Amino acid sequence: MTSTAIILAAGEGTRMKSRHAKVSHEILGKPMISWVVDAALEAGIDRVVVVVGSHADEVRAIIADAYGTAGTVECVEQAERLGTGHAVKVAIETAGIDAGPVVVLNGDLPLIQSGTIRAFAESVADGGAAATIFTFTPPEPFGYGRIKLGADGQVECIIEQKDCTAEEAATLLECNVGCYAFDGAELAAHVGEIGCDNAQGEYYLPDMVEILKRAGRAVSIFHCDDYREGLGVNSRAQLAQVTAVARDRVNARLMAEGVTLIDPALVWISPESEVGRDTVIWPLTFLTGSCKIGEGCQIGPNTRLTDTRIGDGCSVEETVAIEAVLENDISCGPRAYLRPGTHVLDHAHVGTHVEIKKSTIGEGSKVPHLSYIGDTTMGAGVNIGAGSITCNYDGVHKNPTTIGDRTFIGSNTMMVAPVNIGDDAVTGAGSVITKDVEDGALAIERNDQRIISGYTARKRARS
Ligand code: UD1
Ligand code: CA
Repeated sequence: MTSTAIILAAGEGTRMKSRHAKVSHEILGKPMISWVVDAALEAGIDRVVVVVGSHADEVRAIIADAYGTAGTVECVEQAERLGTGHAVKVAIETAGIDAGPVVVLNGDLPLIQSGTIRAFAESVADGGAAATIFTFTPPEPFGYGRIKLGADGQVECIIEQKDCTAEEAATLLECNVGCYAFDGAELAAHVGEIGCDNAQGEYYLPDMVEILKRAGRAVSIFHCDDYREGLGVNSRAQLAQVTAVARDRVNARLMAEGVTLIDPALVWISPESEVGRDTVIWPLTFLTGSCKIGEGCQIGPNTRLTDTRIGDGCSVEETVAIEAVLENDISCGPRAYLRPGTHVLDHAHVGTHVEIKKSTIGEGSKVPHLSYIGDTTMGAGVNIGAGSITCNYDGVHKNPTTIGDRTFIGSNTMMVAPVNIGDDAVTGAGSVITKDVEDGALAIERNDQRIISGYTARKRARS
């Protein structure tokens, strides 16, 4: 039987005060909606239907970028936002959902775990209840729908915060997470019965509890003991709170796997990133996108790596790297900027105030100080003197530079590309190299030095 997840992401997100869709806001570099979709996919759900509406194009683009347009994840549009119950009705009608377990998830529920979703889908697939509601008891229940139990100890209904009496708000502390499992046929049959006679004039999905019970069907609740899994994001403050929980989860896993975090509260690592054993991560380090760090490295402090791969035994300090690859035993920084296409081979050194783009730094080569290297293929054992630059851009085109093995580039050499410098070559400090340099040659381009003796004494005598 096909299992379906309906993820609600059409809301206005008013409390975020943003020009962007609420679910587009990122947590550890990954959009909120992707956390929920990924959890559903990891749970083994066959089909994921995302309901978009407010900022629909932005949400569609995130989904298309992450999951393609022809796969398991599809979007349907709720043109008018009339509430969560209406959103589910639109999804069922537009996507044609009926039999099989249907898990409904709020799109602003990024910490939900795949295991929970799986257990939920099974709870209705087993044929017990027509619906299962995930509940929790957060330290701050304000804003959540409250679970009201009947005399039989079973859930009777869910009362939204705005519809609660003062007494209900103060005493009903078990809350609705916004994660539900339904028997698809029952949901499709009854979703049209949801009304909008309530404080917000909206069609509330939680009203399905009463509707199903009235139809004589059982509704069960499942309480989550770790309230953090159920935290919803309606405001920037909640976004920060959820980010801290997500960070702690990733960091706890990495520490359990043998990674040292000097101060786990000051390290932000995306859930897709991998870090090898005995690597030490210093404070104010961010690994975003999908990074892979090897074993025995020192990373940070003050480092931001995005979609970057680093081998074993590297030291990377105060560095920003994007789509870069560093092999093994490399030292980098402090203050290096490695842009896409940077490939640093074993034992090489990239030093301070160095920028590299789309270039290979050969084995054991050194770019220690104040250099820009772009569109360059560099051999092994090269030394780039301080302040040397590849002038790769002529105002129209980006041009390549090649530097052979063991070549010594004198300080402040300007290599005006396109230019090829051979093996074992030397350039004189301060030279502007505009012509190719053959293997083993010295290229020097500067005026002869003049000495004017006694100059200072004469100048002082004049003034
Ligand atoms: C909702 C629940 C509440 C629960 C809480 C958990 C309802 C009526 N209330 O309240 O019981 O405790 O979540 O966090 O469901 N959305 C749409 N279309 C709409 C309206 C909303 O797709 O017409 C989406 C939103 O984008 C959001 C989700 O549904 O992702 C929940 O909506 P939101 O307005 O955040 O509901 P809450 O007030 O948080
Ligand atoms: Ca919400």
